[in-house]
Amino acid sequence: MKNQDFDALLGEIESEIQKDEEEIYTERTLEEAHNPKNVGELKSPSAAARITGSCGDTIQIHLKVEGDIISDCKFITDGCGASIACGSVVTELAKGKTIEEASKITPDDVLAVLGNLPEENLHCAQLAANTLKAAIDDYKRVHY
Ligand code: FES
Repeated sequence: MKNQDFDALLGEIESEIQKDEEEIYTERTLEEAHNPKNVGELKSPSAAARITGSCGDTIQIHLKVEGDIISDCKFITDGCGASIACGSVVTELAKGKTIEEASKITPDDVLAVLGNLPEENLHCAQLAANTLKAAIDDYKRVHY
């Protein structure tokens, strides 16, 4: 196959995949998955948690707490695109909230921002919310 044909084929495959993604996921989910916020680790986090879900993917969340406010929040994941979107949203939701407010963040709150996820990705929102909760529990264990 000539290089040009190969490039054309690659382009076709990519646009097919993009079309499939657009049918399955909301625009907001795709945006958060492709340009996630708060990716990374904090140098000296006030609290941290890492959870591996039943799918085998892991999310880690670091919190920086000042006073009683989550002033910064970062995540990393080796999971699917939906888990990246959920990590991005859950960390955005947590930032600026008090520990008590953030501990009330649920998977449904994440889904509401994303405009829902397909059935097979609902556990990704659960995993992100559970990891946030575990990081908050980690903070409470030391400071409460
Ligand atoms: Fe495992 Fe999404 S498939 S977190």
